[in-house]
Amino acid sequence: MMPPAAPAPPAPPAPVPARTRPTLRQHVAVWYGIVGVPAIWAAHVLFCQTLAATACAGGVPQRNGEPWPVVHWTLALACAGAFALALTGALLARRTWRESAAIDTPQRAPFGPIYASNITPDPVHGIGEYTPAQFAAALQRGVARDGKRLYPAMPYPSFAALHASDVNALYQYFMYGVKPVPNAAPPTRLPFPFNQRWVTLFWRLAFARHGRFEPDPAHSAQWNRGAWLVQGLGHCGACHTPRGPAYNEMGYTQSPLYLTGGVTDHWYAPNLTGDPGSGLGRWSAGDIAAFLRDGHNDRAYAFGAMAPVVGASTQYLGDDDLLAIAAYLKSLPAREASGQYAESAAARASTMAALHDGTPERPGAGLYLSYCAKCHGANGAGKPDKAPPLAGSSLALSSDATSVLRLIVEGSQSPQTGNGGTPRKMPAFRTQFTDSEIAQVASFVRGAWGNNAAPIAPAEVTRLREAIHR
Ligand code: HEC
Ligand code: HEC
Repeated sequence: MMPPAAPAPPAPPAPVPARTRPTLRQHVAVWYGIVGVPAIWAAHVLFCQTLAATACAGGVPQRNGEPWPVVHWTLALACAGAFALALTGALLARRTWRESAAIDTPQRAPFGPIYASNITPDPVHGIGEYTPAQFAAALQRGVARDGKRLYPAMPYPSFAALHASDVNALYQYFMYGVKPVPNAAPPTRLPFPFNQRWVTLFWRLAFARHGRFEPDPAHSAQWNRGAWLVQGLGHCGACHTPRGPAYNEMGYTQSPLYLTGGVTDHWYAPNLTGDPGSGLGRWSAGDIAAFLRDGHNDRAYAFGAMAPVVGASTQYLGDDDLLAIAAYLKSLPAREASGQYAESAAARASTMAALHDGTPERPGAGLYLSYCAKCHGANGAGKPDKAPPLAGSSLALSSDATSVLRLIVEGSQSPQTGNGGTPRKMPAFRTQFTDSEIAQVASFVRGAWGNNAAPIAPAEVTRLREAIHR
């Protein structure tokens, strides 16, 4: 069997978080906030006191034997002016500080933020001085040029599956196709023991035993290309495979848990095996390819952590590659099955009755009718170009409801793609709903129109909202 051909030009890399040195404006703003505001306030009090004491020493100021109000007005204006100045200064300082704090967007891992390294060909801060061998070591074994170990948030266990020719193509791309950016990545701050880079050596030895990709002669060239894209470059398993207690992906390609769904950064990436409930069993290869290219299909929209995967990466794949991925995913046997969908007239009728007459056992029905039906339809069929169907939604049937709950709490947006039309938005409901109402409406969706998945406990919503601070 032929090894898969060299990759299509890789998608542009995620922007490197650039921590520039604080500008003069930020310095001034911060020092003004710390020193200036209290100083003006103190001066203002002192000034007013002194002025008042002097001007009014002999009682109300007089002029030609009459009380003279100009002194009072001047005093009042000076006081108000100083106060307004101090307040504006404080607000400006706060805003500038917030802006400067928003510069870095670290990738959140369960034990703290990890900043992506500068991977532009800048010779000082980036990888400009890397030889091809050093680049391969970093990409596939997680060893930087200076011998430092990279954190496993860099998906090198997945990149280990790449062939030398693919690594070389990536090297050429990063060296000659990317503009150097002379920014030092901010130092990653993790609590002990994760701040000990050597710890990741053991992590690697323990969990990342992952050979090169070897084409499987029992399968077609298309299947092998799909397997190679999913396992290597796409590192789909980094999110879609459950992580163990040590943040390790529980098993790679040979494992029964591979691509059966996992939670990363409080988004649940669903089961991609052939399970007809929560997996891709009812999706056609064309459905999968359209989802990865356009960011949506008739069944679902990409959102949350999947939106940037489509927006920055899979939408640029050619149709051959998309169909290869789809063919490979469709070949995965159903594993870790959960939830069922059985379209039936009886199920639909009972849901419609609950929606229109209300039943005490299904308190989410009323919420659904008031807040969700206008986009997803009372019949759960969705509306074309507005919102996906919820009847039979594999994500809604998943054993893990994290993504559905988070979507209801904070809303989301589908990615911008060349072919996919206007991105769609699901609104946030955290201000309208209590935790138990969110649990009720999610439980209703999981049990309506023939959907059959376990209800959600309010405590699950509370736990998630605490974790994401929403
Ligand atoms: C950064 C994490 C992440 C990566 C990497 C990732 N996904 Fe996802 N994926 C998600 C999340 C979260 C969802 C659930 C939200 C949604 O449906 O868009 C999802 C949803 C999906 C769905 C829809 C499934 C359903 O039942 O609705 C498909 C198909 C999918 N991903 C395929 C892939 C493929 C193929 C790759 C590799 C090219 C990949 N994903 C890489 C996080 C990820
Ligand atoms: C303004 C229209 C709108 C409203 C109102 C709305 N949604 Fe959505 N919903 C969407 C869109 C659009 C998506 C696709 C994800 C995205 O684009 O962020 C979505 C996705 C979903 C999904 C994921 C489906 C899948 O298979 O990927 C669930 C579950 C969901 N909504 C439930 C609800 C619930 C429950 C309510 C009411 C509390 C609700 N929605 C209200 C537009 C809406």
